Amino acid sequence: MRPGAAAAGLAVAVSSTPVRRGAVVWLTAVALAAAAVALAIAFFIPWLPDTASEESERIAFVFWFTTIICIAIFALVAAVSIYAGLKFRARPEDPDDGAPIHGHTGIEIVWTAVPALLVTVIAIASTVALVQNERVGDNPLRIDVTAQQFAWSFKYPNGAVTSTLRLPLGRDVVLRLTAKDVIHSFWVPEFGQKMDAVPGIFTTLVITPKRVGQYPLPCTELCGVGHAVMRSAAIVMEPGAYDAWIAKQGRGQEPREGQAGAALFEEHGCGSCHTFTPAGSKATIGPNLDNVAEFARSRGEDPEDYVRESIVDPGAYKHPGFTAEIPDAFGSLTETQLDDLVQYLLEGNKTSK
Ligand code: CUA
Repeated sequence: MRPGAAAAGLAVAVSSTPVRRGAVVWLTAVALAAAAVALAIAFFIPWLPDTASEESERIAFVFWFTTIICIAIFALVAAVSIYAGLKFRARPEDPDDGAPIHGHTGIEIVWTAVPALLVTVIAIASTVALVQNERVGDNPLRIDVTAQQFAWSFKYPNGAVTSTLRLPLGRDVVLRLTAKDVIHSFWVPEFGQKMDAVPGIFTTLVITPKRVGQYPLPCTELCGVGHAVMRSAAIVMEPGAYDAWIAKQGRGQEPREGQAGAALFEEHGCGSCHTFTPAGSKATIGPNLDNVAEFARSRGEDPEDYVRESIVDPGAYKHPGFTAEIPDAFGSLTETQLDDLVQYLLEGNKTSK
């Protein structure tokens, strides 16, 4: 295509001087065909997960609003490009460079004003969506989210702690996120939002669930060797079922007799890195805990001392074959909690033999 051919084609398209009717019909037909193809690709391929919150619906609106504008521009550019390429193509024997073009004030005004207007409109739509997405209603549910290598924990107003996020349908939920070690990022695709969990500060995210169901909750910030397995789930429940569930979790920091260790194992996300049959975990990021007592004995260590030492100072013993950085996430354990966790692991070693 000769230089300036596309501009010449554009001049044909936008010029107010009479143009050949055939060219207008041709351009319109190609533009409609290009738009139809682009629309089909946009709408018949499921690019985005189904929205499950009010926030994600607003984000989806902005996304499709912008996409429609893009498709319109694409159709126009495709029509003019194809028309110019066919109509003004140089013949093989033609050495001519084509007529020089020294600008066209009318076109320049159009191609400056139209994009400026579109960008402004998109900016307004985005700003409205973002402001609305940060709005919190009168009676929000506040949940503390703590990320660590490589697990999530969620703490509810009554003190209950879980490794799976549960939310009631239709209520504003304010997540307050932080991390114990490195930067992680909270993401539920169906909620459409991401928010970093950063050590030392608190970030917030507002979610208003609109659809009952279970959705994946992967960490979306590369945070170490176990990043890929740092996955949990967000479960949206009917309000009545949610109230019943949360009431049962009300034991908070004081689990029932004999379950303290299991609760701590769950709360600290140990199962995301370690295999431990009593907890139903099968991860292989860290050493298998089913035979930790046997392993200690094989090295001439007292199992209880070995387990306790390994929790308090993860670097004290290097397990062969495990090079991962071990999270130093247990500084917050009280002596009693440490005892509970050690007993839980040792008991599990007896029963899983
Ligand atoms: Cu945590 Cu990636």
